[in-house]
Amino acid sequence: MKRYQMYVNGEFISSQSGKWLPVYDPSTEEIIAEVPGADARDVDRAVAAARAAFDAGAWPQTTPLERGRILLRLAGKIRQNAALLANLEARNSGKPIVEAEYDMADTATCFEYYGGLANKIMGHVNPVPDNAVSLSMKEPVGVAGQIIPWNYPLLMAAWKLAPAIAAGCCCVLKPAEQTPLTVLEMAQWLGEVGLPPGVVNIVTGYGETAGAPIVAHSAVDKVAFTGSVAVGKLIMKSASDSLKRVTLELGGKSPNIFFADADFEAAVDGALFGVFINQGEVCSAGSRILVERPIYKKMVETMAEKAKKIRLGPPLERETKMGPLVSKEQCHRVSSYLEVGRREAKVAAGGGRPKGFSRGYYVEPTIFYDVDNRARIAQEEIFGPVAAVIPFDKEDEAIRIANDTPYGLAGAVWTRDIFRAFRVVKALRAGIVWVNHMQPTYVEAPWGGYKQSGFGRELGPWGIEEYLETKQVHINLSEQPIGWY
Ligand code: NAI
Ligand code: MG
Repeated sequence: MKRYQMYVNGEFISSQSGKWLPVYDPSTEEIIAEVPGADARDVDRAVAAARAAFDAGAWPQTTPLERGRILLRLAGKIRQNAALLANLEARNSGKPIVEAEYDMADTATCFEYYGGLANKIMGHVNPVPDNAVSLSMKEPVGVAGQIIPWNYPLLMAAWKLAPAIAAGCCCVLKPAEQTPLTVLEMAQWLGEVGLPPGVVNIVTGYGETAGAPIVAHSAVDKVAFTGSVAVGKLIMKSASDSLKRVTLELGGKSPNIFFADADFEAAVDGALFGVFINQGEVCSAGSRILVERPIYKKMVETMAEKAKKIRLGPPLERETKMGPLVSKEQCHRVSSYLEVGRREAKVAAGGGRPKGFSRGYYVEPTIFYDVDNRARIAQEEIFGPVAAVIPFDKEDEAIRIANDTPYGLAGAVWTRDIFRAFRVVKALRAGIVWVNHMQPTYVEAPWGGYKQSGFGRELGPWGIEEYLETKQVHINLSEQPIGWY
């Protein structure tokens, strides 16, 4: 068992209370590490370091080009150490090692993307009707509090840190209490790649004790959060006291819509991939599978057959296609939905804990069918490998069901009919829509939700905008007095 310290003002430190939190391997249920249990005093220290670095340190003098180079060097470190990081990520989160390897590549790509963007943040000349030069300048928003979840631990850290660093902000980042290890591992390189102390601070701890004080802190200018809707609402309320900027990426209950003319094999694969990747612990999971009647029965049967063959196993085995859920708590939460689902609908595959595992938070890939969209398993985010299959007759009906949710993160439509594909794309009230695919995510494209899936956009040029303020500058070119008084 290893003790990790947290990273504040360029140093690895313990919490002021001296508390430590256990970190688990969800496949063995064993403690593999401990991290400091931070509280408001530690947050104060981290915010003070970030504030000092932003207001008076070397950071404001660091050129955009140099900020970009720092990010590129950090990406290099991630690539060099990808095997070690992927291994740690898989052990700590339960995700299959092959998926963790993709995450590490995506993490490096994210740092590279924003490394390239750092010196391409452009202002604007405003065509004002006067003898003057009017400018809009882009400036960093200041100190950003960043709170992230456990499903893509290091990748979510990159989505938050990379645009903030590129923009010239300073950060206090809190990883999820379940999965703090890879970002702490990465912290050892932050000084080496040239980040001045205080620019990035990482505090570890529970949401209420370490997350809430970040959101409430008067010296924090902006909060970026990814996680549950419930916490998103708390954050917005708390941030309103000091009118912080807030961006939220919350949950979803995303529809994956299949018309009868879709390529059948691709449809079956796409439905399963859409909901079971990463154990279904994905904010954009295609957890409502809407299927047109003519292919409904065959699709449910074929999906069920394939789902039963998905190989569950230890995250570090390369043949594993689904690992355990991240924690005992998440396993209980998902298991309780399995009970609800067994009452609300019919079971085509799974429906419980798998046999043959004496330990580990494993749940069977589960397909419920003949689900009513008003059922709890069709309305509430489960965040596990649980699909709700819903039949439909007409395009209009599919759209109505798809949009009948408080969420609006993502959706997908499968058809060979280009007219229909685009009609559905336009009709879906969601921030991300795929046609004949579901889940691929690119750092170049905007990510974020409609409705109660949050607001603000991450990734691409949109992601950096959320870390920038706009300053209007008016430069008078007339040397004459105004002559008003
Ligand atoms: P959560 O929203 O409680 O945790 C996410 C992050 O927020 C963690 O870092 C946590 O420590 C922090 N946090 C918790 N309470 C806080 C507070 N009062 N103030 C500030 N920060 C706080 O999510 P949890 O409990 O891990 O999972 C519950 C459900 O949330 C899942 O079943 C899933 O439905 C949803 N979820 C959605 C995610 C997404 O990517 N949109 C990611 C994780 C969870
Ligand atoms: Mg929670």
